[in-house]
Formats: sequence, C-alpha cells, structure tokens
Amino acid sequence: MSHTLAIIKPDAVESGNAGKILAHLETAGFAIRALRLTTLNQAQAGAFYAVHQGRPFYDELVEFMTSGPVVPLVLEADDAVAKLRETIGATDPAEAAAGTVRKLYAESKGRNAIHASDSDANAETEIAFFFSTHERLGL
Ligand code: CMP
Repeated sequence: MSHTLAIIKPDAVESGNAGKILAHLETAGFAIRALRLTTLNQAQAGAFYAVHQGRPFYDELVEFMTSGPVVPLVLEADDAVAKLRETIGATDPAEAAAGTVRKLYAESKGRNAIHASDSDANAETEIAFFFSTHERLGL
C-alpha cells in the first residue's frame, strides 16, 4: 500500500460536489486516511504550487486556490499515485476520459475540481504540507 495527496478544489467544494468526489474515490478503491477542510491564504497556496512559479497560469492558480475552502486528503491504495491520476483524469476536463472525476465534476483546466500528487516523492512532500507529524505517523 502507498499514499498520495488529493485536494478537492474550491470549485468542487463550492458546487456541493465534495461528498460525491469522496464517494467516487472510495468506490474506486482508495481508503481515506487523513482529511481536513481548510482555506488557503496566498502564502500557503503560493508555497504549495511553488514549482509552477513563473508559469503563465500561476497567479490565476493561486487566486483560485485561495477563493474558498479546499479539502486536502491522504489516500491509500496499491500504487496510489498512478491509480489516483488515472481515477481523476487529464488536467483539462475536455481531455479527461469518461467516468473520471474531472470529466464528471471539473469546469475547465484551471477550475478542475481536484489536485493529485504526480510522484511518490511529491506525495510525501505534499502530505507533509497539510498534515502534522502525529497524523502522518498514524498512516
Ligand atoms: P493541479 O493538478 O492542481 O496542478 C497544477 C494546476 O495548474 C493544475 O492542476 C491546473 O489546475 C493548473 N493549470 C495547469 N495548466 C493550466 C493552464 N494552462 N491554465 C490554467 N491552469 C492551469
């Protein structure tokens, strides 16, 4: 079993789809091992997406991710990083496969309902960003 980080983004929380997305993830075979609801400030969102600093969509991304509550969660499964990326679909919902979270719930490439870690190393960093040592030691 391995772990990955997902964030249900402000668009999905605002539109009342957070619960449906959690159910979708559980049905897909993930166990939810940590979860919280929080609103990011600019420094927090900027730090989380620091790897994208300088890209044309960075400012828009930070503004969007601070626009309302988000739900970060730790998911457990065999090969969790790859499995979650397959379950949520392509970044752009127009390119996401049928039945994926983004095809079902995302509005656009920017407002795309959910974030997922893209590697085991980034999953570890991103889990540590949102969850405390005592929560991580419980995993
Ligand atoms: P996420 O998985 O959270 O990782 C980085 C995010 O940047 C990505 O999802 C998109 O929401 C956003 N993003 C990537 N490319 C673009 C783009 N061209 N325009 C707007 N947002 C983008």
